[in-house]
Amino acid sequence: MSSEKVDQLMQAMTIAEKIGQLIQTTADVFPNGDAVVTGPMKSANMSAESVYTIGTVLGISGAKKVKQIQYDYLQHNRLKIPLIFMADVIHGYQTIFPIPLALGASFNPETMKIASQVAAQESAAGGIHVTFAPMVDLVRDPRWGRVMESTGEDPYLNSVMATASVQGFQGDSLDDHHVAACVKHFAAYGAAEAGREYNTVDVSEWRFKEQYLPAYQAAVDAQAALVMTSFNTLFGVPASANQHLMRDILRQEMAFNGVLISDWSAVAELINHGVAGDHQAAADLALKAGVDIDMMGYAYAKYLEKAADLDTTTAQLIDESARRVLELKDKLGLFTDPYRGLDDTREATEIKTTANLQAAQAAAEDSIVLLKNDRAVLPLVPETRAALIGPVADSGDILGSWSWQGDPAATETIKTALSAAMPNLTFAAGSDYRTSSVRDLKEAVALARQQDVIIAALGLPADESGEATSLANIQLPAEQLVLLRELAKLNKPIISVIVAGRPLDLTEVADLSTAILFAWFPGSKGAAALSRILLGEVNPSGKLPMTFPRSVGQVPIYYNEYRTGRPSTNPFGRDDIKYQSKYMDEVNAPLYPFGFGLSYADISVKAIELAQTTVTPADTLAVTVHLENQSTISGKTVIECYTHQQVGETVRPVKSLVAFEKVEIAGESLADFTIEIPCEHLASVHQDLHQAVDSGEYQLMVGLDSDHLITVPFTIE
Ligand code: GLC
Repeated sequence: MSSEKVDQLMQAMTIAEKIGQLIQTTADVFPNGDAVVTGPMKSANMSAESVYTIGTVLGISGAKKVKQIQYDYLQHNRLKIPLIFMADVIHGYQTIFPIPLALGASFNPETMKIASQVAAQESAAGGIHVTFAPMVDLVRDPRWGRVMESTGEDPYLNSVMATASVQGFQGDSLDDHHVAACVKHFAAYGAAEAGREYNTVDVSEWRFKEQYLPAYQAAVDAQAALVMTSFNTLFGVPASANQHLMRDILRQEMAFNGVLISDWSAVAELINHGVAGDHQAAADLALKAGVDIDMMGYAYAKYLEKAADLDTTTAQLIDESARRVLELKDKLGLFTDPYRGLDDTREATEIKTTANLQAAQAAAEDSIVLLKNDRAVLPLVPETRAALIGPVADSGDILGSWSWQGDPAATETIKTALSAAMPNLTFAAGSDYRTSSVRDLKEAVALARQQDVIIAALGLPADESGEATSLANIQLPAEQLVLLRELAKLNKPIISVIVAGRPLDLTEVADLSTAILFAWFPGSKGAAALSRILLGEVNPSGKLPMTFPRSVGQVPIYYNEYRTGRPSTNPFGRDDIKYQSKYMDEVNAPLYPFGFGLSYADISVKAIELAQTTVTPADTLAVTVHLENQSTISGKTVIECYTHQQVGETVRPVKSLVAFEKVEIAGESLADFTIEIPCEHLASVHQDLHQAVDSGEYQLMVGLDSDHLITVPFTIE
């Protein structure tokens, strides 16, 4: 329902002014404007007059700049309709949290919500009204660089995290300490074939609705104010021209009535896809699909050339979209205060505060994953004689991609944090990320020989993560593996600390390392978090939100696979049974499975009990989990609940995550946790593409990762 103000403006606006509301450009078209460029730049080719009719800008922030641009704009705009300022504040504005894939590894929606809340508070003070987040694309292929932006491979985990993130960004009332969320990229961008960026996506509508759609639906249900179209095709048509996807599924079935914005030049790129002959045809297709804003594509700008002669249908579609943009401005309170949230004082007092940095550190501590810890070599004691070796050790490049105003040069390094806590620590880089010299290598080995323990800080730089960074080889760079092999010859314990934005093939790293901590890109306080974990001040509790393959040849590999007609009877071996779904030269099992992560404490699930073993689809399954901690130290872990439906109307995954809870258990104790699982979480997509909970026999499987599970049967009648 539009407000009176919107109705008045719609009455007063010319068709050209309405078209202007549908155009988004970078702010460099205005005096004092500049832009963070996140796509191919084209010139606006718009007249000075029409530039002052555009509805929104992206890629700029900062109270002073935004105020200047908004003020100048309102001097020129006939009806004084303010601009919306949008930006990619994905996992922080200046206080940078761990990347979203790491926040997924926390399995803690409260951690995700806090990260989004802090990002919203800081970016609102910097003049941002809309953030292009959360990205909720389900991902199963670590060759794709944007897995770092997702929360992983599971529909349920992604749905829980999407809800938490939208709530964190938007708050309860979209006030001037919050920003509107723009859930992206609709849809199924994460299924790009071969993990190659911008590549074709071709999943069936059945699989789309079963696996990819749930997280978008969760974000829409959480009232995300915008949705962004994806670059890719789906069901044979590019998303930005896909009426079935946008009108039937998004607007009707998912009941989304907010603003649909294209990704960067995705409307104009309909020409490259080959579904539009020119910009005008591309604009017509996008408008019919219901795309309200053309980001940086200048296809909608074509309508300006013949605004007076548009046919009725096109004019009505333009009205529909312009109204949605104005409604968003109204919802943001911009008609009341075009400078909402903008405040030099707030910028000075509310950004990169101690509290915000502490929250970022807590998030890193909650998401770092302990993958290996042979002989309990971790935690170390401060006096340990350790050699810190590797290209990541003295690098501030631990913020990750999409870190907006985060500054690696101002970010504490692992070397700085560890040196402050470990008086006997020595350091040598040994190699750069992808280059090394014999001298550096020899110096590092000589230094390590003098010490008792080696901490190998290895990984990838942030510019090998995020958009347009697909990799065919997902091992560590050869130079770093050479360094690790030389260090291993010293026969000392090696603790590998890996910083990267994607699952890597760590097979050789695991062979050479005594312990492995996977830190993701841990953000502004990631080094401090790592230091506290290495020294046992924090007990690691992260769990993998994506499967880690043994080799890239297994990809895509994910836990919730379907059984096939000839399932492997031994996923960990290459036995001699021929006719089974397996490889001849690799086992089926991953190196580390979804949901896996160790603790310094010895925590295990001793038993589980179902309150009822026969329920109806409307019921909630209640399972009591008996946890035991046999060590002296307390620890957090994640109780993971999976189900398997024995017989379905369509094939059923071998297991599906349906509930999880991050819990803490004291040392040397037993504790019971009851987890409620609404049976609606067990719905499956039928051949008619509708969701339903089938009656029948099921298994409930509970554990601390997706492999080691205690199973009990139950029935849905
Ligand atoms: C980029 C990304 C999208 C981002 C947008 C604006 O190309 O695909 O995620 O929000 O452009 O920067």
